[in-house]
Amino acid sequence: MMERVQQTDTAGIGDVKRPLDIREHVERADYQTIGEPFSGDAKMTARNVNVYYDEKQAITNVSLDIGRNEVIAMIGPSGCGKSTFLRTLNRMNDIIPACRVEGEFALDGEDIYGADQDTVLLRARVGMVFQKPNPFPKSIYENVAYGPRIHGLAHNKAELDEIVEDSLRRASLFNEVKDQLDKPGTGLSGGQQQRLCIARAIAVSPEVILMDEPCSALDPIATARIEELIDELRENYTIAIVTHSMQQAARVSQRTAYFHMGKLIEVGETKQIFTMPKHELTENYITGRFG
Ligand SMILES: Nc1ncnc2c1ncn2[C@@H]1O[C@H](COP(=O)(O)OP(=O)(O)OP(=O)(O)O)[C@@H](O)[C@H]1O
Ligand SMILES: [Mg+2]
Repeated sequence: MMERVQQTDTAGIGDVKRPLDIREHVERADYQTIGEPFSGDAKMTARNVNVYYDEKQAITNVSLDIGRNEVIAMIGPSGCGKSTFLRTLNRMNDIIPACRVEGEFALDGEDIYGADQDTVLLRARVGMVFQKPNPFPKSIYENVAYGPRIHGLAHNKAELDEIVEDSLRRASLFNEVKDQLDKPGTGLSGGQQQRLCIARAIAVSPEVILMDEPCSALDPIATARIEELIDELRENYTIAIVTHSMQQAARVSQRTAYFHMGKLIEVGETKQIFTMPKHELTENYITGRFG
């Protein structure tokens, strides 16, 4: 059992209604996250995370659990570190040379930054969907079949066909594309491309899906489809979603984490965060006073 972070800030303990002065809070590294960053049934755990781009610190002492089969929303003003934190969870920051990550991370209790961790395998277990749909310049079929093929998930063509069809169905795209599987994925509409990317992510049977503003390039109808899909996927997957839309966070997530200047200010039940935020910074953000 991993040790919980020390809650060092006396102003917050038993007195969450009177948070720290904002300026003081922002400057301190030993600040206290308000709410409950930990889960009784954690799928992933992140402890005492600091992330730097060269000398610049982008994440300061963040500890957070992602609960099994929950959708957790990550919100906060632009530049507060949402994408940076999300990328620590499947080591996507490894590919940014300037980026240095500190802290402890586990998936089902297993250290994901261990020297023997295969990052290709990790990213299959913890998949990612990006802001801008980014299908490979290949056919619709190949976009989905690629991952299962390199991970040896199908023994023959029939099995691969089945995985492709099943993934497209679960991403609620199959009926729209079933007669054009050999056509380029890039020829689909934006919303269809994003569902294709979701199909591609789930084709390798990930355990966790990280979504970084997956709907920001989509119209309201395509967005609604993706949101429905997120709700369905929650039965089988654990999902962390970064969003700038507070309505979206409220609709799809059970828990919400509010980041501000690289710090995890407050985390709690989504309903509580949006109706009764405890920290002044959270309240300012959700009421539109900044951000
Ligand atoms: N590749 C990079 N190289 C250097 N600095 C970076 C890099 N990526 C992010 N940063 C810096 O780290 C901080 C956090 O950025 P990040 O992209 O994680 O924020 P964000 O909350 O996702 O913002 P947005 O809502 O605009 O997407 C910012 O100050 C940003 O300039
Ligand atoms: Mg971002």
